[in-house]
Amino acid sequence: MSSYPEQITHCVSQLKQLLTEAGIESEIASFVILGSGLNAVVDDFEILAEINYSQIIGLPTPTTPSHQGKFTVVKMGEQHTIFCQGRFHLYEGHSAQSAAILVFILKELGATQMVVTNAAGALNADYQPGDVVLINDHINMTGHNPLLGLELSFTNIFADMSNAYDETLRNRANKAAIRNNITAHSGTYAAVLGPSLETSAERRMLRSFGADIVGMSTAMEVIAASSCNISVLGISAVTNMATGGVDQQADTIEDVLNNAAMAANGIRKIICEILL
Ligand code: HPA
Repeated sequence: MSSYPEQITHCVSQLKQLLTEAGIESEIASFVILGSGLNAVVDDFEILAEINYSQIIGLPTPTTPSHQGKFTVVKMGEQHTIFCQGRFHLYEGHSAQSAAILVFILKELGATQMVVTNAAGALNADYQPGDVVLINDHINMTGHNPLLGLELSFTNIFADMSNAYDETLRNRANKAAIRNNITAHSGTYAAVLGPSLETSAERRMLRSFGADIVGMSTAMEVIAASSCNISVLGISAVTNMATGGVDQQADTIEDVLNNAAMAANGIRKIICEILL
């Protein structure tokens, strides 16, 4: 069995080869990780190539509904951007390093900027399903960290996380939201392990800790990005209310996917303005 650094090197060389075969030679400066129900974000971009994760030996396959498992390369102005349609969650049984592998692969392809998206429940009662949240910080409640025991030449395991979500990108995203009449909050994301949803008491506790939204992804990828100097913009689609109050409704995956689809159009507009 190969080591994690060997696994990354092997995935990178295969992906480079597949990109070359698709006529894409230039470096990939930016990439986007699409969360649950957010596949529609790539609609309307000029798609240059689609590469399935299954074409790359050593890359896991996502098992979550709506996570397609492919790299979609689009043209944005003069630049190429890769959309990772599907990610690897801890709750699928993936290790923290598997959950972060897309970030290290894209770093090796030259990326300096990541937009990470997700579906999240609203702990903050002022938010509504379908709203967009520009993540200003996170609280990692998963108990996992992809940098644990990591020996990669281009990463700093003592990554500074005090400004993990780039303020300049957030301000630009906020202006894009205002220009496009999109309701976008600035909020803190609590990352939990899942896959069961939180109890109402857990949700009230997360709110009291200062979190506005809760979800089961993103933190591993953002820690990985911080360890190798990739600037991060984090965007959440609010898919359900998760206040844990007396009016707390049961959540369904159908509601999560439908409400994420409602937010997808706004998220696409914001990404377009940030990356163009
Ligand atoms: N909790 C955790 N993860 C989620 C939620 C939630 O309420 N909604 C979407 N992803």
